[in-house]
Amino acid sequence: MTDEVLAIAADPEEHQAESSLRPKTLDEFVGQPELKEHLGIVLEAALERSEPTGHLLLCGPPGLGKTTLAHVVAHQMGASIRQTSGPALERAGDLAAILTNLEDSDVLFIDETHRLPRVVEEVLYPAMEDFQLDLVIGKGPSAHTIRLDLPRFTLVGATTRAGLITGPLRSRFELIERLDLYPPDDLELIVRRSARILGIELDEAGARTIARRARGTPRIANRLLRRVRDYAQVRASGAVDEDVARRALAVFRVDERGLDKVDAAILDALVRRFGGGPAGLSTLAVAVGEEPDTIEDVYEPFLLQIGFLRRTPRGRVATLAAFEHLGAPLPEARKAASLFDQ
Ligand SMILES: Nc1ncnc2c1ncn2[C@@H]1O[C@H](COP(=O)(O)OP(=O)(O)OP(=O)(O)O)[C@@H](O)[C@H]1O
Ligand SMILES: [Mg+2]
Repeated sequence: MTDEVLAIAADPEEHQAESSLRPKTLDEFVGQPELKEHLGIVLEAALERSEPTGHLLLCGPPGLGKTTLAHVVAHQMGASIRQTSGPALERAGDLAAILTNLEDSDVLFIDETHRLPRVVEEVLYPAMEDFQLDLVIGKGPSAHTIRLDLPRFTLVGATTRAGLITGPLRSRFELIERLDLYPPDDLELIVRRSARILGIELDEAGARTIARRARGTPRIANRLLRRVRDYAQVRASGAVDEDVARRALAVFRVDERGLDKVDAAILDALVRRFGGGPAGLSTLAVAVGEEPDTIEDVYEPFLLQIGFLRRTPRGRVATLAAFEHLGAPLPEARKAASLFDQ
């Protein structure tokens, strides 16, 4: 049950639930103040000039609002959005078909941009830069290229793995923004907003309890809220306060700090197998059966945020707080040094 409740990625059934909660405008979008300021300026300026916004790349762990922001951009520009993803575009022709069907100032949203095949990426370069499409007509010696003008669109790319975006592609984005994990205060606002939309009676302490266990992630916060609502409906009076939230989250075995299965496995390996570290990223990755990049981009940011892990030149180190959370004794060598290790 734990895995289901805390998995970071959205499952298909969740998509509908999510879309009703999705902020439509930048004002409704909670948190990420710096990103909001940048985007606000760029959108307002483009609107004033009656031009499409420059291409935008959104990077960050799953569930933080990349898809939401792509829709916000389209909405604020009064434009339509076409949505696709890196792995869905297998051949150059797949992208060409989409590009030629765009209308002026449409937003083209490409999710998982880091998974675009190279041949498709090459079609994107002139499209992004000059709104041009190079089409190869025919085969063999009679083959020739024609250039088509494309509508002036805005590309919004999203990726959980910024490091895997190639240099040439990255350089064609006007604005590259990183989404950070949300602090509990922002998640509390998100939970309260969602409760209002869903008609859930929720007090401040109840919202805080949910927010604290949401792994810095709005998607998880909304998911926990829905589970707590279910519990409140059948096991309590329907209203959610701190006590109801605590009981509900205990039933669904949501970790007090919001750790998911992989977070827990990383900490467990670091603390119990490697004596708290330092352990190299790739060693740690093998121990938990994940790719090093995934650990670095998707899991580590949270463990760093809550102060359970530190990066040192010699590798990853578990902090005292991590040992305490796991109820593991501190190794002798660390006890001596523990004064410095908060
Ligand atoms: N800043 C925010 N304010 C309010 N709600 C938010 C915010 N960011 C995200 N959400 C909520 O979280 C849900 C997940 O966000 P979204 O689908 O945009 O994440 P994502 O970054 O695209 O994730 P993935 O990488 O898995 O595609 C949304 O349905 C939305 O309700
Ligand atoms: Mg998304």
